[in-house]
Amino acid sequence: MSATRRFTQVLGLAAAGALAFGLAGCSGGASAAGGGDDELTTVGFVAVGPEGAWREANEANIQDTFTKEAGFDLKYAPATNLDQKSQIDAFTSFVDEGVDVILLSATEGSGWEDSLERAQEAEIPVILIDRGIEPDDTDLYVTRIAPDNNEVSQGVADWAVGAFPDGANYFVLEGPAGVSVVNERNEGWDEVIGSEPSFVKVGAQTANWSTEEAKSVFETVLKSNNNDIQVVFAQNDEMGLGAIQAVEEAGLVPGVDVKIATIDGTKAALEALADNKLSFVAEYNPLFGETALDVVNKVLDGESVDSYIIVPSETFDSPEAAAEALPDRKF
Ligand code: AHR
Repeated sequence: MSATRRFTQVLGLAAAGALAFGLAGCSGGASAAGGGDDELTTVGFVAVGPEGAWREANEANIQDTFTKEAGFDLKYAPATNLDQKSQIDAFTSFVDEGVDVILLSATEGSGWEDSLERAQEAEIPVILIDRGIEPDDTDLYVTRIAPDNNEVSQGVADWAVGAFPDGANYFVLEGPAGVSVVNERNEGWDEVIGSEPSFVKVGAQTANWSTEEAKSVFETVLKSNNNDIQVVFAQNDEMGLGAIQAVEEAGLVPGVDVKIATIDGTKAALEALADNKLSFVAEYNPLFGETALDVVNKVLDGESVDSYIIVPSETFDSPEAAAEALPDRKF
């Protein structure tokens, strides 16, 4: 059983979007790193589970960071087949168990109000990892830690405009409907491309973060548009790799006939960029376990934190940049 903690949630400065948790009756926990098991801070991690290389890196990094040596007992609860109900069940169990803090990577962007209200009634702070939830202006969670999806996808759009000064026909391979980052990535892309009349949207379709599904989808799109597509915005690396396969199946040259841009920045994508098969890769940095630990410590020690903590990410726009990054790539 973890250290008993009582929290009085005090809204911080609304203007600063900061939320503060007053702490009373704390005994031990994260700031008392290395104590016995009963001194460990219990963290319920409602996770996504197997989904692709980005998710594997992100969830491994969280688990590698919140160790007993660091003063934590992290309880990892991956979803069953990406099913939100399994996440809600795990969330409820963590509340009933009285963990000190809940980390949530939501498989769905909506449907969390009841769970969050239960955690608030139990005075258990909730911190969003990566995925946002709707409504995003709620005080039912303390903060969200993630790269800025809107900014990342605007970077992809800026690359596309620079690569095609006279415009292009483009297609968007989206992640699953209802996932917060998909909406944010569409918004970022549209904010830039929407003011470029020479860019023509041929269409958009989900390929559910999957290489195989993206290959199938884009094969059909190429056939039905007589291969007249110059840009693919794939909202994650796996789907971009599938688009490469579809382009090659059509007898076209990826990077020449069709330029493909992706988000995540995993090794496989950088290798494809180094091989000139991808044309642009925007990192969506998954390695923010240390940031999450720092935020958890601050919240449990009663300090205020911003309502959205942005994880810095970089971009890769050439084979040389990819080749330079690959030897030290950690995901
Ligand atoms: O929420 C982040 C997204 O989820 C990543 O871009 C994708 O690869 C993962 O499945």
